[in-house]
Amino acid sequence: MKMTTLSNGIKMPMLGIGTFLVSEQDGYETVKEALKVGYRHIDTAQAYRNETEIGRAIKDSGIPREEIFVTTKLSARKLGYKETSEALDESLFKLGLDYVDLYLIHWPSSNTALNQETWKGMEVCYNTGRTHAIGVSNFQIHHLLDLFKVASVMPMVNQVEMHPGLQQEPLKVFLDKNNIKMISYGPFMKGEVFNREGKFYESLDKIGDNHKASVAQVIIAWGLQRDIMMIPKSVTPSRILENFKALDLVLTNQEMEMISLLNQGTRVYTDPDNVPYVKK
Ligand SMILES: NC(=O)c1ccc[n+]([C@@H]2O[C@H](COP(=O)([O-])OP(=O)(O)OC[C@H]3O[C@@H](n4cnc5c(N)ncnc54)[C@H](OP(=O)(O)O)[C@@H]3O)[C@@H](O)[C@H]2O)c1
Repeated sequence: MKMTTLSNGIKMPMLGIGTFLVSEQDGYETVKEALKVGYRHIDTAQAYRNETEIGRAIKDSGIPREEIFVTTKLSARKLGYKETSEALDESLFKLGLDYVDLYLIHWPSSNTALNQETWKGMEVCYNTGRTHAIGVSNFQIHHLLDLFKVASVMPMVNQVEMHPGLQQEPLKVFLDKNNIKMISYGPFMKGEVFNREGKFYESLDKIGDNHKASVAQVIIAWGLQRDIMMIPKSVTPSRILENFKALDLVLTNQEMEMISLLNQGTRVYTDPDNVPYVKK
């Protein structure tokens, strides 16, 4: 497994399994299958409502806890200093774990003070050992600059929408400068990238042909080669395996450049500066 090292020295697998829109029912089978195939990084969130089943799959896998990297995220409705800590305890109870590897603020509020208080709550979670690393998700550069003003512990990652249509290069440069790792969510644009009519599919398919690889594998390899962690979601066993095998694929510089031309700067997910369901 390709690993990266966070700013506090914690090692994190570069490829994980996403679980958004994976029901309680599917959560168990999906995570069990992923662990069987070799994934050791699971991405969940309080909002996904599948932590209980994921925890059960981890336990039943028989794999030692310390070999699995578990990320969960603070619900957008629970921002606040005390709330952050209480919500983590609830997640730990559901997951049946005594720590998570990474805890993230799922979405920023437009209320800067609230984001800052929440970050201080994240630091408490970190300092009490209930999470081995802390970070944010969907934070733009201006959100991060506001956090830096109060942070005693710097965020270790930022999980953001990132795919061939939204390559996030300026944010990546900023994160690199600040020793914050990027995690890509929605790598397949929620599946839209597989629309065969689109120009994405054609270019990516051509690159895949060079390596006898699928479009999904090309996207995963492209992200990993940019030093971005990838957490594709699939509930389909054959795709869970196919995505995992992307770890063996290496793209040429020319192929990397071809993909960089597909950037349009367009989102398939919510704009982080306008999140309707986040606490204000
Ligand atoms: N931090 C955040 O705010 C945030 C937001 C969104 C997502 N995320 C995280 O990022 C993860 C991934 O993003 P996502 O769930 O939005 O979407 P995604 O990974 O971009 O796409 C998932 C879709 O692609 C399909 N798929 C997967 N592998 C495939 C393959 N090899 N060939 C063809 N189709 C394939 C899946 O189908 P099947 O499942 O039917 O196989 C599903 O429809 C989430 O699950 C979640 O953990 C985080």
